[in-house]
Amino acid sequence: AVIPAHLKRLVLTGFMGAGKSTIGRLLAARTGWTFLDLDAHLEARTGATIAELFASHGEPHFRRLESTALASALGRTDTILALGGGTPEGLTNRLLLEQTPGTFTVFLDAPFPTLFDRCMLQDIARPVLEDPAAAQLRFAHRHPLYTRLARLTINTADLTPEDTVETILAAL
Ligand code: S3P
Repeated sequence: AVIPAHLKRLVLTGFMGAGKSTIGRLLAARTGWTFLDLDAHLEARTGATIAELFASHGEPHFRRLESTALASALGRTDTILALGGGTPEGLTNRLLLEQTPGTFTVFLDAPFPTLFDRCMLQDIARPVLEDPAAAQLRFAHRHPLYTRLARLTINTADLTPEDTVETILAAL
């Protein structure tokens, strides 16, 4: 699939368990673009895991590192970028995403219980999920931020990953 020339990067946003990494890899395979996971980019830049960064210096420190990693990631072109679930919480991050030309952002949405169940099936350390009630509040707080940031919102609850990819490619 060929992406229109005015687009330089596709950004995938949404809560943990939304499928950002899964869909991002499939999109990269379909388009020949490079997949970049912001969490992995941050881990490579710092030499520490996300869980270690939360544990050693707390969430505010993690968020500052995440912002600099985002600014660096947005310098790439021909890239499918999967954000972290909390990346759109930062105003600076939202402005960066909205104001970097050639950026098309997709919100992968699903109901909270679906997202939570998907996460429980994965073996990924996610500090923000340790308290499920607090995670649900975060989801409610973030939902309008994801929606406003994105050009396209897809409810992935009843779609296969392949169908989600086709929906995205058809909307570009
Ligand atoms: C977080 C989501 C994670 C990761 C970190 C914090 C969040 O990314 O950035 O654990 O606040 O929702 P994924 O959505 O890729 O799991």
